[in-house]
Amino acid sequence: MYSAETLESRSEMTNIDTEDTTTATPRDRHSETPPSKVEVRDLRLWYGDTQALFDVNMDIQERQVTALIGPSGCGKSSFLRCLNRMNDLVPGVHIEGRVELDGEDIYDPSVDVVQLRSHVGMVFQKPNPFPKSIYENIAYAPRLHGLVNGRSEMDDLVEMSIRRAGLWNEVADRLHTPGTALSGGQQQRLCIARAIAVSPEVILMDEPASALDPLATATIEELIDELKDNYTIVIVTHNLQQAARVAGYTAFFHLGRVVEFNDTDTLFTNPREQKTEDYITGRYG
Ligand SMILES: Nc1ncnc2c1ncn2[C@@H]1O[C@H](COP(=O)(O)OP(=O)(O)OP(=O)(O)O)[C@@H](O)[C@H]1O
Ligand SMILES: [Mg+2]
Repeated sequence: MYSAETLESRSEMTNIDTEDTTTATPRDRHSETPPSKVEVRDLRLWYGDTQALFDVNMDIQERQVTALIGPSGCGKSSFLRCLNRMNDLVPGVHIEGRVELDGEDIYDPSVDVVQLRSHVGMVFQKPNPFPKSIYENIAYAPRLHGLVNGRSEMDDLVEMSIRRAGLWNEVADRLHTPGTALSGGQQQRLCIARAIAVSPEVILMDEPASALDPLATATIEELIDELKDNYTIVIVTHNLQQAARVAGYTAFFHLGRVVEFNDTDTLFTNPREQKTEDYITGRYG
């Protein structure tokens, strides 16, 4: 039931002419809209014997913000971690289905997971700077990946990343002091700068502002709005106003399934499913 509805909502989202969905490939059908950056097909996930995701389908649009909402335990983080294979690190996990980044299956055995994670970066709920200087927090991964030649290129990359994360004015004179000495909101922007430093195409954010005060949250939201011009962003949030403010598209998860996925305005103002309406009007969750 849900997968049929999900398909229906996907076809609405991407302006698919429902009459020719059986014949055209997704790419053909997107001829007037850009292709999806990430395509998820029939994704299922188990932790041991317990299934946590059921037949999830989603087309994630390039240079857009997609929000994942739903009650605690519904599978939002599990889904997000599938998009850069972070679940590979969880013992006993089993995943079926497909996740394609630019049409390439990220679960193909030939995929270099370290490379994949440089294309699909992640920002966590709790800011987790390395116990190193601000500069080294940014420089570490580009050095590991051999992305820069020499000190001055690295200086430029560090500055550009911190600027893009909206943190430069606050830290320019203290780049060699510990990242952990920054405020929570600054640490989170440092983590975003660190994610940006390896030039990812997709940035996954799992409740990136939930540990922050309202002012720091507003700063992160403004930043997300700017970043979407260059990056595809998928954000998990419990804050429905935040989803409404930052995301062009929103998926509502419930019990491991996508109940509804649509453009954010439609999902919040005219949800198709009773469950979605119950959740967004605060009747449960
Ligand atoms: N590492 C794990 N091992 C076993 N079960 C897990 C693991 N991570 C998550 N689960 C289970 O999978 C289900 C989905 O969890 P998940 O963390 O994806 O939910 P969520 O929507 O992100 O919740 P929250 O809003 O509380 O963060 C839950 O039942 C959870 O207990
Ligand atoms: Mg979670």
